[in-house]
Amino acid sequence: MTTLLHLPDRFSFRNRDLIDFDPVLRFFDWSLPSGDLVVDLDTCRRANYQALALLVPYIWRQRLLGHAVVIQSRHDHGTPGQQWALMGAKGWWQVLSKEAENFKGNVYKPLIAIRNAHNFNLAMSSIESYTQGFDIEYESTLRYIVSELLYNTIEHGSASVPQRIGQNIQSIPSIIQFNWYKDNNELHFLIADLGVGIKKHLEQTYPAFEDHASAIEYALKPRVSGTFGMNRPYDAKNNAGVGLFISSNIIRKLRADMYLVSGNGLVHISPVDVTRKTLEHAWPGTIVLIMMRLSKTGEKLNLQRMLSEFREAAAREGSNGAGDGQTNEYHIVIHNYFGRYAENKQEAIHFKDRRLMPAIHEGKVIVFDFADVESAPHSFLNALLAEGVRALGLKAFKRFKFRNTTTSIRETIDYIFDENIPDTEG
Ligand SMILES: Nc1ncnc2c1ncn2[C@@H]1O[C@H](COP(=O)(O)OP(=O)(O)OP(=O)(O)O)[C@@H](O)[C@H]1O
Ligand SMILES: [Mg+2]
Repeated sequence: MTTLLHLPDRFSFRNRDLIDFDPVLRFFDWSLPSGDLVVDLDTCRRANYQALALLVPYIWRQRLLGHAVVIQSRHDHGTPGQQWALMGAKGWWQVLSKEAENFKGNVYKPLIAIRNAHNFNLAMSSIESYTQGFDIEYESTLRYIVSELLYNTIEHGSASVPQRIGQNIQSIPSIIQFNWYKDNNELHFLIADLGVGIKKHLEQTYPAFEDHASAIEYALKPRVSGTFGMNRPYDAKNNAGVGLFISSNIIRKLRADMYLVSGNGLVHISPVDVTRKTLEHAWPGTIVLIMMRLSKTGEKLNLQRMLSEFREAAAREGSNGAGDGQTNEYHIVIHNYFGRYAENKQEAIHFKDRRLMPAIHEGKVIVFDFADVESAPHSFLNALLAEGVRALGLKAFKRFKFRNTTTSIRETIDYIFDENIPDTEG
């Protein structure tokens, strides 16, 4: 049996000035009868890139569940078929089936599959080429938010389907798509996954929530994390539960809009308030949509100042976490964040600012585990370690522990210690 799904006449979140997810989410049928699936894009006259991008995880999932999928479309100028092609989405199967593969779309219509640190870097450098002309503070602020959301989707939103005979791929990557709307000078980006969703993830730590929207609102609070309740002796406690708190506060400062959809819950962070809604149609995972006006905000941004302000606010609000902060050890599995070749300096800097320095200030003992890391050049290790070593001085020898390093990594680390700890003798 073949199921034919027609894309509606308009496939967009935006309806005049209103943002509405139901017209888009209504399209997705999550309980298809077995058989083939044909998606007809030609019945749609106007689509927006972020909405169209959601088709990708959808057909990935259907394909892995055993449906043969065909996307049917013309490619005339301005049609959704052309937009689909511009994003490189026609390569959806290659991207799903080959881990090293990603979408080969137009640089101005980036669509990126996110499954690991390597894709994370790809997304960050793609954002970078987009934001090059912006104010430097804008650029770093945007990078900050995007990386928080990418961390979330990698850490909490991984998706898989049950194993089937003849199908050895089981995991469904997350996606990020972004687009600059020239006319009103807005940058829109969407990050989506088909993971367990915010409610279920939080319920690993907290009592059941009444509905999805309440869970999303709760996730925005400082020091709330689904990971606090997990029994992961090896890498637990790496999350502070402040990513969404800080990002959503920055969004407000930027006078941007952030929409979080998970299950049938929707929470909208706007410059003036936070509102919630229960949708008619659910997304079985999490979607974050951000719309940012790039026109001058009038006020000068300062990322570092904003971060310290929001971190202090998070600390003041006290701990909501079941069991957070109980351990005095912070265990960093380098391979999980930076891969086999830990060499991206930008990423090291972000990690240092975002995770390492706060942990040092909290007085933690930091355990760096280099298992499965083949190389880590001086530039990378220095970006990661030097500031902390300088801050701690001689105490760094006690507070930093290194495991499973190759000889060359160990030597480089020793060198960084020498360079950054003042000579006390003499
Ligand atoms: N994509 C997602 N899928 C499922 N759950 C999510 C997703 N994003 C966030 N969450 C839930 O919301 C919680 C809060 O997210 P937040 O980013 O604020 O904290 P964290 O990721 O746990 O910690 P930190 O960001 O400080 O490392 C997460 O712990 C998780 O339970
Ligand atoms: Mg997070």
